[in-house]
Parts: sequence; C-alpha cells; structure tokens
Amino acid sequence: MRGILLAGGAGSRLYPLTLVASKQLQPVYDKPMVYYPLTNLIESGIREICLISTPADLPRFRELLGDGSRFGVRLEYREQARPDGIAQAFRIAADFVGDDPVVLILGDNLLLDSEPLRESVRRFAGGATVFGLSVPDPERYGVVELDSAGNPVALEEKPLNPRSEWAVPGIYLYDASVVEIARGMRPGPRGELEITDVNREYLRRGQLTVRRLPPGTLCLDAGTSSSLHEASVAVQKAEEARGIRIGCPELAAFRSGWITRETMAAVAAGMPRCEYRTHLEKSLG
Ligand code: DAU
Repeated sequence: MRGILLAGGAGSRLYPLTLVASKQLQPVYDKPMVYYPLTNLIESGIREICLISTPADLPRFRELLGDGSRFGVRLEYREQARPDGIAQAFRIAADFVGDDPVVLILGDNLLLDSEPLRESVRRFAGGATVFGLSVPDPERYGVVELDSAGNPVALEEKPLNPRSEWAVPGIYLYDASVVEIARGMRPGPRGELEITDVNREYLRRGQLTVRRLPPGTLCLDAGTSSSLHEASVAVQKAEEARGIRIGCPELAAFRSGWITRETMAAVAAGMPRCEYRTHLEKSLG
C-alpha cells in the first residue's frame, strides 16, 4: 500500500495565517499540521509516500520533511499547479501509484488514533474503503447514506438536505484502478474533480466499503480559525489522556522498527533544546 498526502489548496479561510505558510504547515498544538497525517500513514505501515502541494509551498514541505529517511519512509513530492480538485491527486501521482493500492489522506484531516486506518490497510482486499463519521453538520462534507446493515446506498457532496449524519472524512483507500477512474472524470458543479465522484464510481461497481469511526477519533477539516484551534485542543487533551504524544513521525518510525535507536538519537541530537526533543530522548529509554 502506498500513501498520497494531499497538502495543497489556497488556505484562504485561514488568511492571513496562510499568507506565507500553507494551512498544512500551521501549528496544531505543538507540531505542524502535516505531522499528524504523516504519522497516521507511518503507523499504518505505509513507507512509500507522495506529498502533493502547490508550487509555492512544496519547497517548505521539502525543507520540513526532506526525503523521509529520518522517518524511515521514502517521500516524493509532486506539484499541483491549481487546486482543481482532490481527485486530481491520482492524475498527478499516477506513476507513483502504478499497480499498487493507495491511501489518500488530506493534510487537514487529523486522525487522533491511527488504529482504524491501520486495520483497514491490513484488511484491504481491493475496491475502495472509506470511513463514516457521525457529525452534527453533514452538509459541510461528502455524505454517505447507509442501509440497516451499514452498507453504502448513496453518496452526495455537501448536500443541502443530507440524508444521513455520516460524513465521509478525507482518508480513502483505493485499489490501483482509481487512476483510470480519475482520468475518466469530469469536473463537478464547483469546477473540481470531486473525490465523492470517485467514491460513487466504486459504489456503482459494488466495490465500496464504509467503516464507521468511533466519535472523537477524528478532527475533520482543521481549515477555519476555530476548527484549527479546536484541533489543537483535541490533540492536547488526547495526549494528556493517553499519556503519549501523537503525531510524532520519528517516534512512529522508531516503534515500527524503521529507524534504529542510533538514528533516532542522532535526529533528536540535531534538534535545539525543546519539548519535542526531550520527548524523543525519553522515548529512547
Ligand atoms: O474534510 C473532508 C471533506 O474534504 C470531504 O468530506 C469532502 O467530500 C471533500 O470534498 C473535502 O471537502 P472540502 O470542501 O473540505 O475540501 P477542500 O476543498 O477544503 O479541500 C480539502 C483539503 O484538500 C484542503 O486541505 C486543501 C486540499 N486540496 C483541495 C483541493 C480541492 C488540495 O490540496 N488540492 C485541491 O485541488
């Protein structure tokens, strides 16, 4: 399984925060936002990762994350010239996907616990798997209607009158046919290649699985000032409650056995004195 981390877009709702650094580089509690989805991918066993962002922001992501070796992964970078839709990621990264299944994770969807993704990656057997999260405001999201057995019946993007409370968050697992599906798509009413149309195609083929997420496992769309703040609070609370730090890619790589103790010690030693460094050093035992 490969991973695509989509971290483009204009971030206009966070202006002026996003004047010089994109949304996914903004702090969520004590780390850059992109650390969280990156850690979710690492904790799910994904080592080949392609990060897609704007031409202006890509150099900053490269500076922050490098080639991925300090997290035990291989990171590639691709440009999205214009924000023409989430599904465009599969056209941009077609050669990266190749014949492999792929997870697409949006850089502003923060999964506070990687377990549901890890489990879905482990069980993935083709087609598409998406998640469902019960929310009070489904009209802001892609929405899936489920039958009494939990099987998907219909999907809509930001419906005015949602037929269910189940939002589809920005974490999707697809087999390699997603590239052909994305190539054959046309832009939807808002002029974008819609990810919901990709999911609809899998539903039409009878190949869409929906896994319901327990409440509190995900902060959706940290894209407004208040949701960005809420995400920080949620991370702080989750860390205090569990007594661990979440969203530490170095630690995830160390625990997975992808970087050695020596590498993690060297990575920590290269940091200035800060809480993050102390945490990594303590984790070495
Ligand atoms: O957050 C989950 C929702 O994300 C899903 O429920 C919706 O089905 C899906 O369409 C999407 O809705 P949004 O309206 O929140 O998408 P937005 O345009 O805000 O983009 C989400 C993230 O993806 C954002 O961080 C920017 C990035 N992005 C978006 C587009 C359209 C890109 O990098 N490139 C793009 O072309």
